[in-house]
Amino acid sequence: MNIEKPWTGRFTEPTDSFVEAFTASVTFDRRLYHYDIMGSIAHAKMLAKVGVLTDKEMHQIVDGLKQIENDIEQGNFAWLIELEDVHMNIEARLTDRIGMVGKKLHTGRSRNDQVATDIRLYLRDQIDSISSELQRFMHNLLIIAEREAETIMSGFTHLQSAQPVTFGHHLLAWFEMLKRDLDRFKDCRKRVNQMPLGSAALAGTTYPLDRDYTAQLLEFEGVCQNSLDAVSDRDFAIEFTSVSAILMMHLSRFGEELVLWSSQQFDFVDLGDSFCTGSSIMPQKKNPDVPELVRGKTGRVYGHLMSLLTLMKSQPLAYNKDNQEDKEPLFDTIDTLKGSLKVYADMMLGIKVKQDKMRKAAREGFTTATDLADYLVRKGIAFRDAHEIVGKAVRHCVDHHCYLDELPLETFKTFSKKIEEDVYQVLTLEGSVSARNHLGGTAPEQVKKAIARAKQSLT
Ligand code: ARG
Repeated sequence: MNIEKPWTGRFTEPTDSFVEAFTASVTFDRRLYHYDIMGSIAHAKMLAKVGVLTDKEMHQIVDGLKQIENDIEQGNFAWLIELEDVHMNIEARLTDRIGMVGKKLHTGRSRNDQVATDIRLYLRDQIDSISSELQRFMHNLLIIAEREAETIMSGFTHLQSAQPVTFGHHLLAWFEMLKRDLDRFKDCRKRVNQMPLGSAALAGTTYPLDRDYTAQLLEFEGVCQNSLDAVSDRDFAIEFTSVSAILMMHLSRFGEELVLWSSQQFDFVDLGDSFCTGSSIMPQKKNPDVPELVRGKTGRVYGHLMSLLTLMKSQPLAYNKDNQEDKEPLFDTIDTLKGSLKVYADMMLGIKVKQDKMRKAAREGFTTATDLADYLVRKGIAFRDAHEIVGKAVRHCVDHHCYLDELPLETFKTFSKKIEEDVYQVLTLEGSVSARNHLGGTAPEQVKKAIARAKQSLT
């Protein structure tokens, strides 16, 4: 095969071999092959439509490209570093296969608009598969939330027991965060799904291209409106990575809770043996490696966002080779997201919830103290005074190692004369959660309604 670079015409010396490897991207951009071929097929069809290629030439090119795709998939394609990138590798092989006609494919096109198109096509598909994996995770979260709609656990502020909440409600908080992430991907997709092709190197081209037709073939929502912008900006990749960074932040927070909850100190959940690993020295250990790793991998994605922002910063118009550095951070962001979502979605199904431990934590933390204060307010005491009274009652329980609901009525009366027999109902965990019965509240009734709405939003 002819491995001469297509741009050697104006050169008198060969490329330094280190420079050749240093400037090449084929080792990583070959991942784009399917989209490169897809873009080339659409471009060739459009060239035939406007009369730049004959139909016969177009069919030769399209068939040749399809065969090449097949070769790549069968592992019969030698990627050559001398041919720099995915685009030149495929084009050189096409010419090798079908002869001179292959050289016509690049008419009215540059690698600059070609690569921008390839990345957008690839990213569009990746957004779709990330979104469906995210939905699977959300769906599995809902399964547990539904099962645990009435399960009582301690809710926390400052990681100190605060008020009782239902575990279903707690999980729905995660659902809300993920739903916003899903919306952000959907929104980002609109700006990814615009076609740069036709911008050529930077200024457009002298051929009578029908860009709308190419866009239609490639199912782009629109055509980039300025050739200089189209070939140079990577803001769509930055936006995707920033949406990804926010999602990873959520996955990391969730991971942190799973790590805490599966510790002996909390003991709220069992993550399942197939999602944990052991220690090579301590035989008793069962470690929550999966959520820890997701928590750790979050740093990668934040780093990739910073890489891409910095890569773009200060670049003059239009295309600069700097942009070749967009791919590895983007690819790794995608791989990290897909892996993390898959493992979380799968892990959800095996989680065992230790309802008794959750309940015990809620009871031990004086989590119904606010309910007692609200009770006193209903009896005509100002909230600040009620707060003070309950504070003293809690102090008494701490000193006497008992729960609030174990105090006899006479003792309650020493804190406030207004306290009556009906206080005990207020102090129960069930009474506390079911009293918060409004939109967004933790009452089981509300959790069930929220689950119904959540299911609706996933369909
Ligand atoms: N491999 C290059 C990239 O990823 C393709 C575009 C090259 N364009 C150029 N003018 N050298 O950005």
